[in-house]
Amino acid sequence: MHLSVADRPRGFKPGPDASVRHVEAFADLIRSRRTHKSFGPDPVPRETIDELLELARWAPNHHRTNPWRFRIVGAETFARLQEAAGPSEAPKLERARTLVLASCVLSGDLQQDEEDICATACAIYTVLLGAHARGLAAYWRTPRVLRTKAGRDAVGLPEGERFLGLIHLGSPRGEPSAPERAPLDAYRFYLP
Ligand SMILES: Cc1cc2nc3c(=O)[nH]c(=O)nc-3n(C[C@H](O)[C@H](O)[C@H](O)COP(=O)(O)O)c2cc1C
Repeated sequence: MHLSVADRPRGFKPGPDASVRHVEAFADLIRSRRTHKSFGPDPVPRETIDELLELARWAPNHHRTNPWRFRIVGAETFARLQEAAGPSEAPKLERARTLVLASCVLSGDLQQDEEDICATACAIYTVLLGAHARGLAAYWRTPRVLRTKAGRDAVGLPEGERFLGLIHLGSPRGEPSAPERAPLDAYRFYLP
C-alpha cells in the first residue's frame, strides 16, 4: 500500500483531545514496525523516497543544524560499493533495490556532534516509520564496508560526515517476528 500525499489521514490534533483512534494507530505503527531483510524486486519510486526524506527534516534538532544527509544509491555507485565490499559482503547489498545512505555532518564540537548524531538517528527512524506507514519494508543496516575508506570513497562520503546507516527500502517479503524487548520495569525509573 502506497499512500499518496492526498490520501494521508487528515485532522490529527495532538493533545488530550486526540481521538483514541489516532493514538492507538500511532502506537500500532511504532509497535508493528520491523526490520526486514527480504524485499520484493522493485525499487521504491522517487516520489515516495522524496516523501519519506521530507519527513526526516521534522526530526528534533537542537540549534536546527540540519545535520542529516541522505544519498540515494544509483546504479554506478552501487557497482562501486559492491566492488569495495568484496565477494563475501557484496551479495548482502542486493537484498533491496533501494538503498539510502544516511550520514551526519560533524562540526568538530563534541557536544554539537553528539546532539547532531542523535538528531540524525531520529531522522532515520522517521524514515523507517514513514516507510512502514506506507506498507513498505525497511532495514537500518550498518554494513562493515561503509566503515572502510574504500566503502566511503565508493559512495562519495566526504570526510567530516559520520556514516550512520544504509537504509534498505522495498516491498515486504514475509512478516518478520518481533524480537523480544525488555519490559518497561527494566528501564523506567521514577526518581524521588
Ligand atoms: C544504529 C543501528 C544499526 C543497525 N545495524 C544493523 C545491521 O548492521 N545489521 C542488522 O541485521 N540489523 C541492524 N540494525 C537493526 C536491529 O538489529 C533491529 O532494529 C533489532 O534487531 C530490532 O528489530 P526490529 O527493528 O524489527 O524491532 C540496526 C539498528 C540500529 C538502530
